[in-house]
Amino acid sequence: MTDPAAYSALDSKRFGIRVFRAGADNVEAVLELVQFARSADLDLLIVRCPVEAVAAAQSLERAGGILTDTLVYYRGPTSSFAPSPASSTCIRLCQEADRAALEGIARASFTGFFGHYHADPRLDPVAATEGYVQWASSALADPASLVLVSETEGRLSGFLTARRLEAKTWEILLNGVAPEFQRRGIYAALLREIGCRARAQGASQVLVSTQLANLAPQKVWTRAGLELDHALYTFHWWKA
Ligand SMILES: CC(C)(COP(=O)(O)OP(=O)(O)OC[C@H]1O[C@@H](n2cnc3c(N)ncnc32)[C@H](O)[C@@H]1OP(=O)(O)O)[C@@H](O)C(=O)NCCC(=O)NCCS
Repeated sequence: MTDPAAYSALDSKRFGIRVFRAGADNVEAVLELVQFARSADLDLLIVRCPVEAVAAAQSLERAGGILTDTLVYYRGPTSSFAPSPASSTCIRLCQEADRAALEGIARASFTGFFGHYHADPRLDPVAATEGYVQWASSALADPASLVLVSETEGRLSGFLTARRLEAKTWEILLNGVAPEFQRRGIYAALLREIGCRARAQGASQVLVSTQLANLAPQKVWTRAGLELDHALYTFHWWKA
């Protein structure tokens, strides 16, 4: 029989504890998970639960899980994306020479982020931020990922990573704009560019997610014609 949760090497290394991850959409699955977690060699279990599975979420609460975020997924047709109007920001593929600047933007934009790592007071917030930095940086070496950067006034101002999820769908994974360049439409321009590139490569849909509390990207997505598709709660269950 396979374990109901999978060991997360990345999370474990990042926080210096043993972390497992799982999904659960019904009460029986939650009970099985908690029984597994109590007997397994682990410190933290991260569980994603669809928001409509209220009984499963309540069961996680009763077992001692803490709600750490609500992920909202937006989906939309690539046909609604139009190229950016001429502006002072240029969008291009990220190069190896951009790595340090890319990491700097990820670090600045994800410090104190809304995600489940930062929301858990038992996890080191600096290590949580570095997780996003590492995620952005590793995309540069991943042949399946595409990394776009924006350049404004001669400096790298933002980035967006994406990959093909299925034949017709691209998923946008991580986005950030340096704080000093935010609220100038740079993220909207990055999104338009990835939408156009996905369409040019034969994709008809884009999928993207963030935390419910993170309003800025949701504003940009709805303006670009994306719609809320589904949502997941994230719970953290600590053994002791
Ligand atoms: C999300 C993010 C990429 C947006 O970048 P940006 O270049 O500032 O985005 P834009 O300027 O294109 O548009 C953002 C819109 O949200 C608004 N906005 C920005 N911060 C906001 C906030 N805290 N609450 C509500 N609206 C906000 C902006 O004013 C703008 O709307 P407007 O055109 O009506 O002024 C940037 O805020 C960021 O890096 N955040 C931290 C990382 C993150 O959340 N990444 C996305 C999830 S993976």
